[in-house]
Amino acid sequence: TLSVDDMKTSVQRIKEKMGDKLFIPGHHYQKDEVIEFADQTGDSLRLAQVSAANHEAEYIVFCGVHFMAETADILTSKDQKVILPDMRAGCTLADMADINQTERGWAEMQKQFGDTIIPLTYINSTAAIKAFVGEKGGATVTSSNAKRMLEWAFTQKERILFLPDQHLGRNTAFDLGISLEEMAVWDPMLETLIYEGDLENIKVLLWKGHCSVHANFTVQNVEELRQTSPETKIIVHPECSREVVELADYAGSTSYIIKTIQDAEPGTKWAVGTEMNLVNRLTQQHKDKEVFSLNPHMCPCLTMNRIDLPHFLWALESLEKGEVINQIKVDSQIGQLAKLALDRMLERG
Ligand code: 13P
Ligand code: SF4
Repeated sequence: TLSVDDMKTSVQRIKEKMGDKLFIPGHHYQKDEVIEFADQTGDSLRLAQVSAANHEAEYIVFCGVHFMAETADILTSKDQKVILPDMRAGCTLADMADINQTERGWAEMQKQFGDTIIPLTYINSTAAIKAFVGEKGGATVTSSNAKRMLEWAFTQKERILFLPDQHLGRNTAFDLGISLEEMAVWDPMLETLIYEGDLENIKVLLWKGHCSVHANFTVQNVEELRQTSPETKIIVHPECSREVVELADYAGSTSYIIKTIQDAEPGTKWAVGTEMNLVNRLTQQHKDKEVFSLNPHMCPCLTMNRIDLPHFLWALESLEKGEVINQIKVDSQIGQLAKLALDRMLERG
């Protein structure tokens, strides 16, 4: 077996040999051993934008999860090939909205609300869900533009169906002044709306999905820290629950978290509610500040972590041999409809 140093030397060699033919986007949650080779790091929005803008690369080796690679495939030309170094790198949140469930739920909502709903989907969703949303005149959103996209959606229809992350949907709608009484939850398992009150008052229908990583940051974590270290600032991702976001000092996308900590005064203390690899990196990069996880047990995203150095090297070595392994290829009809949803977002920055 190869040592880590040997693997890194091989990655570097293949990268240099392939030059502009190869493009490596890397999400902020990726492991250090992989992210150090990324040509571009970013949050989900940035990575979608840079993939769409890259016309040179023949191969895009995506260091992130399945829905991100699908998005890159949809946004690049048909002769560019997108590769995911480990096919098991999915996203449990994206998996919480299945297209059949969504179609059934939508039909039910049409019965209850008529043609008053526009669907929006978090980019953490399958290509099939994006296609569904695109076909219905809706758009994708990311954690860094969700507010703007919800504002736009309300210029189109009086109600929004937000898939698949109830927390990002609820936190964003709340920021826009929509009260919790004006939000209902659609349970895809029970195929019912969870709501007590007059249906007429509902402005946002939240799909009952959540990110299993961000679910680990709790009110108890916040309360304990407020007791033991009141001077520590708490910053969380909006995939955390409403209660946690409410109690935190700041909430925003991974890029927002990175920038806020970068810009903070030396000597300040930060508890961060997001994925472990990013928190550890911030701890290492900002030795003049104290940066640690809001949940003392740390919270890794197991699927993001499946992209490790051996899988990454394996993907690159295969390309060097002229084999295309683990290509992510979205069906062209689904891709076209999904692109409508993505373009409506990208047009708005
Ligand atoms: P962002 O990097 O867009 O904030 O997304 C976080 C995330 O959970 C990606 O899966
Ligand atoms: Fe999906 Fe959550 Fe992992 Fe992001 S952190 S890839 S939303 S499971």
